[in-house]
Amino acid sequence: MEKILIHIKQLNITNDYINLNATLVVNTLQVYHYILIGIAVIWFIVIVSVSWSIIKGAPYSPTRMEKVHNMLKLTNLKSGELIYDLGCGDGRILITAARHFNAQAVGIEIDPFRYLWCQFLISILRLRKKVRVLYGNLFTLDISEADVVVCYLLQKTNDKLEDKLKEELQSNSRIVSNKFLFSSLTAIHKDSDQGIYVYKID
Ligand SMILES: C[S@@+](CC[C@H](N)C(=O)[O-])C[C@H]1O[C@@H](n2cnc3c(N)ncnc32)[C@H](O)[C@@H]1O
Repeated sequence: MEKILIHIKQLNITNDYINLNATLVVNTLQVYHYILIGIAVIWFIVIVSVSWSIIKGAPYSPTRMEKVHNMLKLTNLKSGELIYDLGCGDGRILITAARHFNAQAVGIEIDPFRYLWCQFLISILRLRKKVRVLYGNLFTLDISEADVVVCYLLQKTNDKLEDKLKEELQSNSRIVSNKFLFSSLTAIHKDSDQGIYVYKID
């Protein structure tokens, strides 16, 4: 009888052990399941936001910092002037204009993640008094106050943008385009090696 009881006890312990292991396996699988769903959701959001930018004007591709400085120098950006970056990406042009040229800067960005990143950067760099970022479409927001406009878009987007620049900007405003041309604007500097094109509104 005693032997049978010991055997039953051992069986119970083995059962508990199996149950515990099974629960652990199920919990681990559930965690992996949630991680996979999380990764899929993040990928989906990233793909939608990248495609949205491309459809609306241009994919994200930051200008090299050395080129940012050259572009701003070539526009002859002066202290206190207002510069707009149409599609400001991670905000590097706005930050450089404010810090190194003492300009006021406004960025327009259609990608919500880059917009939020810019807001975060501006706050931690304490540039709120000099730099603003607007969330929206560069084709629909007013840019008439700009002294200087920066564009790094695509050729077809530049072609579409030309009329807006001519209609809204005041005379003597300057436009600098990275890589792509504005065929009907008056060019004041063309450097096809570096891919920097500067224009002036007549
Ligand atoms: C090539 S990146 C240039 C980023 C930044 N200007 C630079 O030179 O480093 C183009 C940026 O424009 C944004 N963009 C594209 N179409 C836009 C639109 N219609 N309105 C506002 N931003 C747009 C994209 O999300 C992307 O961040």
